[in-house]
Amino acid sequence: MKRRRVIYEGKAKILYEGTEPGTVIQYFKDDATAGNGAKKDTIEGKGVLNNRISEYLMTQLQGIGVPTHFVRRLNMREQLIKEVEIIPLEVVVRNVAAGSMSKRLGIEEGTALPRSIIEYYYKNDSLNDPWVSEEHITAFGWASPQDLDDMVNLTIRVNDFLSGLFLGAGIKLVDFKLEFGRLWENDFMRIVLADEISPDNCRLWDVQTNEKLDKDRFRRDLGGVVEAYSEVAKRLGIMPESVQGENKGPVLVQ
Ligand code: TMP
Repeated sequence: MKRRRVIYEGKAKILYEGTEPGTVIQYFKDDATAGNGAKKDTIEGKGVLNNRISEYLMTQLQGIGVPTHFVRRLNMREQLIKEVEIIPLEVVVRNVAAGSMSKRLGIEEGTALPRSIIEYYYKNDSLNDPWVSEEHITAFGWASPQDLDDMVNLTIRVNDFLSGLFLGAGIKLVDFKLEFGRLWENDFMRIVLADEISPDNCRLWDVQTNEKLDKDRFRRDLGGVVEAYSEVAKRLGIMPESVQGENKGPVLVQ
């Protein structure tokens, strides 16, 4: 038996060599980190939930014509994705003030923003992913002006679509982070949505109560992380069977 090759291991995912040329297998771990690795834990079932939630959201986005790296889910923890050249940026969209924006600008958490705001962070762990502007991005060549234009257009479409989708499930999309990659098809390059979209990289609040249903439960030691992620999956109507909690044993199939 041949051991498959690890391409990259991150904080919450492992990338393995794919089964077909130009593909990669994305494995979702149960590990959670915050503060650039300062806080670490294992949350049983998180990887399964994120794999399923991200599959669902990426598929819905593909349905409205947003290009993504997603090919198909392989099993509970793995999905097949297209091999892309990752652009070293985290693109954050905010609809409501929270997290680092509230801290940096002194705006109370939960304040609705006058309009959606896009921010960029340079993906570099040793620098703690610093905040950067479009000037830095194009001057240092992390992305071209055309790449940036494509990313902004896609980000706005993703935000509009996901805000509505979550609202329909009784959830407020407060903010989230996207990553993009360059997908080469012969001599042509397209910018596509990459990484994952899950409660690990979104702030999701219950519309009625503002209860947090995302990774802030881990970051802020609120407990009930898996329960919150399960609630998101349940409301989206995609709860994976193996993390439904109770094991009722064999069921008679009629
Ligand atoms: P922030 O308020 O900490 O800047 O986070 C904004 C959004 O981006 C929030 O939904 C969490 C997400 N995010 C990530 O997914 N990865 C990161 O490394 C950071 C800093 C934020």
